[in-house]
Amino acid sequence: MTAKITLIQDDITQLSVDAIVNAANNSLLGGGGVDGAIHRVAGPELLAYCRSLGGCETGQAKLTPGFSLPAKFIIHTVGPVWQGGHQQEAELLASCYRNSLLLADQQACRSIAFPAISCGVYGYPIAAACELSMQIAVEMSHCLQHVRKILFCAFDDKLYQAWLTALAATQQH
Ligand code: AR6
Repeated sequence: MTAKITLIQDDITQLSVDAIVNAANNSLLGGGGVDGAIHRVAGPELLAYCRSLGGCETGQAKLTPGFSLPAKFIIHTVGPVWQGGHQQEAELLASCYRNSLLLADQQACRSIAFPAISCGVYGYPIAAACELSMQIAVEMSHCLQHVRKILFCAFDDKLYQAWLTALAATQQH
């Protein structure tokens, strides 16, 4: 079976899915943006749990419970900081999406929601990031055992439109 790819415009902390993905930093000890929002809603137990994880390499992913979030799990991944495109940013961003999906599948999650990793303070160009994340989701949708629904959660209209364009492009092939 193939996982279904869906777009929504929402606050990812409010989604009742099996796993939401956090665009974290290498320390995994919280920050601003979506990371700050997730820690606020999940509650202080999340930070305490994250302290035991020993950080996370860029492109990798680590799992925690969702604590007070509606989501069961949080998958913390660390996107690349955009440095012009020649520092393996695309490979690293692709790894974030791939590893997060694999981790969700290992936990037998049926649904997973992604924010636009690296598209905030890390400065990754939005159109390129949306195209890449969509490509990885399409590729992986055929080889996941448990994940049935992959949600891209846009925080604003610009991101929603960029993912919509990327999704339409995959459907033309
Ligand atoms: N729901 C969905 N998307 C959101 C939400 C939300 N509640 N809040 C923000 N976004 P960013 P990065 C979108 O900066 O670029 C943190 O300090 C936002 O519009 O959160 O990967 C970490 O600790 C943007 O499109 O993550 C790291 O230090 C996207 O989430 C650093 O920022 C990602 O923006 C990571 O930077």
